[in-house]
Formats: sequence, structure tokens, C-alpha cells
Amino acid sequence: MTKESVTITDNRTGRTYELPVEDGTIRAMDLRAIKVSEEDFGLMAYDPGYKNTAACRSNITFINGGEGILRYRGYGIEDLAERCTFLEVAYLIIKGELPTADQLADWTDEITHHTFLHENIRRFMEGFRIDAHPMGMFVATVGALSTFYPDAKRIQSPDSRELSMIRLIAKVPTIAAFSYRHGMGLPFVYPLNTLSYPANFLSMVKKIGVETYEPHPDLVRAMDVLFILHADHEQNCSATAMRGVGSSHADPFSATAAAAAALYGPLHGGANEAVLRMLREIGTIDRIPAYIESVKKGEHRLMGFGHRVYKAYDPRARIIKKLAYDVFDVTGKNPLIELAIELESIALSDDYFVSRNLYPNVDFYSGLIYEAMQFPPAFFTVLFGIPRTVGWLAQWEELLKDSEQKIARPRQIYTGIESREFVEMSQR
Ligand code: CMC
Repeated sequence: MTKESVTITDNRTGRTYELPVEDGTIRAMDLRAIKVSEEDFGLMAYDPGYKNTAACRSNITFINGGEGILRYRGYGIEDLAERCTFLEVAYLIIKGELPTADQLADWTDEITHHTFLHENIRRFMEGFRIDAHPMGMFVATVGALSTFYPDAKRIQSPDSRELSMIRLIAKVPTIAAFSYRHGMGLPFVYPLNTLSYPANFLSMVKKIGVETYEPHPDLVRAMDVLFILHADHEQNCSATAMRGVGSSHADPFSATAAAAAALYGPLHGGANEAVLRMLREIGTIDRIPAYIESVKKGEHRLMGFGHRVYKAYDPRARIIKKLAYDVFDVTGKNPLIELAIELESIALSDDYFVSRNLYPNVDFYSGLIYEAMQFPPAFFTVLFGIPRTVGWLAQWEELLKDSEQKIARPRQIYTGIESREFVEMSQR
């Protein structure tokens, strides 16, 4: 009979230890029993970047990286992207079940009635330099919200948590739109309660010189689908930041600002901006082979390619690639699409990329859509941050309800000087 355990022999002492295996994992704390002497601290696992460490149990998002599967709460991303609205998916991610028609109506009503920002937040945003990066404004403003809602500190109260989550989901499109308008030198457009979540966002971004801005329904739908695809992605860098800060029991606005800061980096949410820069740098199809060679020499990475978890085609990239053509029907084709498709095809037939399982990720095609919709590249990460707020909040709520969770506090291997005599300033 097979036993759900592993036996470890410590060759330093000759002792063996049996560690239970549960859900394909051993408990890192069980390693502590493995010691060379009574005084020994005990064995630890060294895992920079948490490449092989499960830090939580989660029932929100499932990814099978080998087969390219992504599910929220058990529902396939393809079904959700085709058949739901973003707010429906947000409800699913936060509450665990798809809403009934009444539940969705109430949820939509709640979100819609929390979209306004306090006027002082608007003034706060006006204080940024005209050339401030919109993602920097987004991070700072989400963090600043914590000072407007001191009640959000009551993180043990389910009612307080619920209100904070509604506020955040409702207000991030407004903050995002204001960050865009500020950079463009345009007046801020206030939310309009008669519009849907994505249409209201587009109106706050695009409305100029008209009573009501009516975005093209296909673009509204495309925005909604992009929001759905970006809503959660289990324990990525920003979700880990959310959980890390949340684990100290900081309020959700501060924790969300930390998560957004993590998203800002080019290896995470900033990659789609980098993809466009890369495509422009390549310029023409005939220059792709030389570019691929320089990537293989390690001179730079192929942006929008590769993923920590997916070792197959990112299912979100497949949906976005198709969506791009729906958007181009309205906006006209982004000329970079041909370059991107050719780059993908050359990379996917090259042994360097094949042997490392490097496929297009969510960021490879999304920037092309955003550009066709006339969003500036600096705004792309903000467009990612709006829907991902939902995922961060679900991860945060799950963390707080999980009795096994503790404040995040990893160990280190100290590599510094052990101890030395203090040197007086005059003798240094
Ligand atoms: N171009 C060229 N080589 C690559 C790339 C790439 N984009 N990604 C990975 N590699 C190589 C890497 O050099 C290494 O090769 P070797 O084994 O010879 O040293 C191997 O593949 C494994 O790479 P890694 O850095 O150990 O993989 P990782 O899991 O730590 O990194 C990643 C994942 C997403 C940071 C990385 O693939 C990358 O930098 N991609 C480009 C940036 C990008 O598109 N980021 C968006 C990620 S998806 C959106 C999101 O979740 O935010």
C-alpha cells in the first residue's frame, strides 16, 4: 500500500525522517525537525521568487500551466469571457458563485453608487505633475483613499470589508480615468450612473465636448472582456504583495496600493507597454530574425513571451488575439499586428523558445488592442489594475478568513560578516 509521506535521510547524521505529504506538499515547518545537533536551528527551504512554494490554500483561481487552463471558481475563462459581464465575473470571484439576476442587479447598483471620488481626492490628483505616470498616480491615489475611509481598518468586520471592496471596485475606474485625463490636460469627467461599468469607464476617459459620450458597443464589450481576462491570476507577484501587506492587517486600500505597485513593474503588468516598444524597435518583418537572435544571445527578452506558470499557450492570449480583430473592425487595423503574428510564428518554430516552453502571454496582444483604442502605452498597466483589483480583494478576503495564515515573514540565509569590533569614526 502506498503511503502519503516522504522519507528523508540526512546524510550529515545518518538519521531518517518521515514527513507527511498532503495535497502534493510537505510542510516546510516539518523540515525544522531535521537537525545536526540540539542547538541547530533546523533545515529550511531556500526558494527565491517562491518558485516552488505554496503559501496558501485558495479556492479562487485554478491554473494548469502545462495544459493552458484558467478557471475562476471552477468556471473556464473561455465561457466567462464569452457569456458574462465583468461585474458578473467580479461577483463570482469575490463571492464564490455566479449571481442570480437579482443579485447581479443589487451588486451592479451598489458598485454604480460608489463610483464618485471625494472632491479632495480629485484635488489631490490635480497636484501631480502634468507628466506624472498614470500608474504612479493610480498607486498613490488608491493608497490615499485609506485616509478617507478610516473605518476600513476594521478588517475583522465582514460589513466593513464588504463596503471597502465595493468602494475599491467602484472607484478604481474613476481613479484610472482621472489619471489619464490629468496627463492629457483634459477636465475630469464624473461618473454617469446610467452607463454600464465599462461604458462609464470609456466615457470618463474619452468624453470631450459632447453631452453624453456613447462608446461603440463593440468597444464596450471588448473592454469588458479584457477586464474579465485580467480579473485574477492566483498567486502572482501583485496578489502576493496584496497578501503580504494584508497579512500585517493593514487596511485594504493600503494593501491594494501595494499590489498595484507590484503590478507596475515591467516583468508583471508593465509588459504590454514593453511589447509595443519592442515591436516598434523591430519595425519591419525582415528584421525579426535578427531580433530573435539577439534575444537568444541574452541581450534582451522577448516581451509578452514566457510565464512562470504557463508552459503552454496562455488561454487569455488566445482570446485576446481573436478579440483584437473585433476591435480592429471598429478602429481600423493596428499595423503592428502583422509584425506580432509573424514574430509569434517565428519564435514558436525556434528551438530556443520551444525547448523553454515560451509562448505568448496575456500581454503580447493586449497592447495592440489598447493602442487601437487610442490609449497611450503608459496607461496600459492602469487598464490591467482596474479589473485586477477584484482578484486582489478576493485574495485578501480569503487570507483574512484563513485561520492558518500568519503575518508574512520569510527567513533568510545570512551572508554578511558575522561579528566585528565597532570602529570609531576617527579610525575609519
Ligand atoms: N524571452 C527570452 N527568454 C526568456 C523569456 C523571454 N520573454 N522568458 C524566459 N526566458 C528564458 C530565460 O532566459 C531562461 O532561460 P535559461 O534557462 O537559458 O536561463 C528560461 O527562459 C526560464 O526563464 P525564467 O526567468 O527562469 O522564468 P521565470 O518564470 O522566472 O520568468 C517571466 C517568467 C514572465 C518573468 C519571464 O518569462 C519574462 O521575463 N517574460 C517577459 C516579460 C513578460 O512578458 N511578462 C509578462 C508576464 S504575464 C503577465 C503577468 O502575469 O503580469
